[in-house]
Amino acid sequence: MSDMQASVTKTDNGFSVAGYEKLNYDFAFVEGVFDIKNKQLAECYQKWGRVLTVLDENMKALYADEIKKYFDHYNIPVTFHAMAVGEKAKSIETLLKIVESMTNFGIIRKEPVLVVGGGLVTDVAGFACACYRRTTNFIRVPTTLIGLIDASVSIKVAVNYGNYKNRLGAYHAPIWTFLDFSFLKTLPIAQVRNGFAEIIKISSCADLKTFNSLDRYCEELIDTKFGRLEGSRPEVRKVADEICYDAIYEMLKLETPNLHEIMLDRVIAYGHTWSPFHELQPEPPLRHGHAISIDMAYTATLAYDRGMLSKEDHTRILTLFSRAGLSIDHQLYDDVAIEKGTEAILKTRDGALRLAVPSPLGQCQFVNEFSVGDLQRVLKDHKKYTAGFPRSGDGLEAYVDASDTGEPTVVSPKNLGKGQPNGSANGHSNGMSSKIPNGHKALVQDAHHENGDLMNESKLLQPVQA
Ligand SMILES: NC(=O)c1ccc[n+]([C@@H]2O[C@H](COP(=O)([O-])OP(=O)(O)OC[C@H]3O[C@@H](n4cnc5c(N)ncnc54)[C@H](O)[C@@H]3O)[C@@H](O)[C@H]2O)c1
Ligand SMILES: [Zn+2]
Repeated sequence: MSDMQASVTKTDNGFSVAGYEKLNYDFAFVEGVFDIKNKQLAECYQKWGRVLTVLDENMKALYADEIKKYFDHYNIPVTFHAMAVGEKAKSIETLLKIVESMTNFGIIRKEPVLVVGGGLVTDVAGFACACYRRTTNFIRVPTTLIGLIDASVSIKVAVNYGNYKNRLGAYHAPIWTFLDFSFLKTLPIAQVRNGFAEIIKISSCADLKTFNSLDRYCEELIDTKFGRLEGSRPEVRKVADEICYDAIYEMLKLETPNLHEIMLDRVIAYGHTWSPFHELQPEPPLRHGHAISIDMAYTATLAYDRGMLSKEDHTRILTLFSRAGLSIDHQLYDDVAIEKGTEAILKTRDGALRLAVPSPLGQCQFVNEFSVGDLQRVLKDHKKYTAGFPRSGDGLEAYVDASDTGEPTVVSPKNLGKGQPNGSANGHSNGMSSKIPNGHKALVQDAHHENGDLMNESKLLQPVQA
């Protein structure tokens, strides 16, 4: 919710307007937001006597009955708009379909649209609300770990356009965000890992206590989906809740003074320097969590090389990624990727590297001094370290599949990680289909470029020759 205050004064040859916009939006933790005993969400809609709910097809299949039962109980008729799944659906066409549903529904001024889903749905539907009548309220219910601890912490909403990720977008805060971690029980493990990578990011640069908890409970947190699966130990559930609470609080503290992204030295950019370029190099592309983990692991090696991180902490960071099943290296993460990735990021960071580095672990420093030759020398060392890790540094389920892209994915030689000739790791499936769809190149260019918008101004680059 925002509230503008401004004044106008006369100048020599015209007028000058100055003012500020007051922002106010709230987050509430709720256990079972669609559980009938939790009235909070229903109360937001009682006044309107109806609710338009936007979600994706997967979420509709899983949760529409529960949502309907909830609102039925409160005599609030619910209308669903289900959008397609995946990054390919993060488009202006998808946005216009939501707009059409809003018109058909006859949404009135101030009436909030209910948006339920991962970062993709909250980005697209949030942007539809930003555009509709120049601004329409919405209530956000994130359902992925990325959504809960990352996308829904910001007020950025967007769609992709042409070859550009998040090229059309806005800053538009929801009136409420309901944080319900019980959605994690149905989230695929590969998506849990994506979110885990972002929590490693924030904790290794800003919150040692959270890093220590991730380190202590790593495998159990992932296997039990942060203590949400039935049979999870209460201790793990308690730790998971603390981790998520602290990660969100850290993100809010770091990012709310910079809601419009004016400052370019950003702690939350750890892992997002070379990954925006590298993420798209394999076919199909890497999952965002894996791309940033490779970048974070390499950056940690750079910090170690410069004496900014102890040997012990360097090993701890790499080991944590590896235990979590996240990638710490890739054969296409090579000298060319370093060179091209550096070139691309310098453009978005106003000519400086602004490399966020954990130093010491739990705190952040920014590195600006570099030469590409030196970065490539460190990469050689990094590859030596990672070669000794399980799966030679490859991750599990590291590549996007139909649940991320909205299209069948492709197996090609460019998938190859270091250890597995077929791109799968330790017998785990990548969920990859062997069907080769037409127009896959276009999909690659439209797919996952950068998650948290840190690269939202840069063009998607053509794959380099490996
Ligand atoms: N606005 C921001 O600041 C910000 C930050 C981070 C990411 N993002 C954006 O978020 C998008 C990625 O979001 P994401 O990682 O949440 O993925 P997503 O929204 O694409 O969801 C991933 C998959 O999980 C499914 N899913 C969602 N919730 C589920 C649940 N509870 N149970 C079972 N399945 C579920 C979805 O249907 C989908 O198949 C990207 O487009 C990225 O640009 C935005
Ligand atoms: Zn990210």
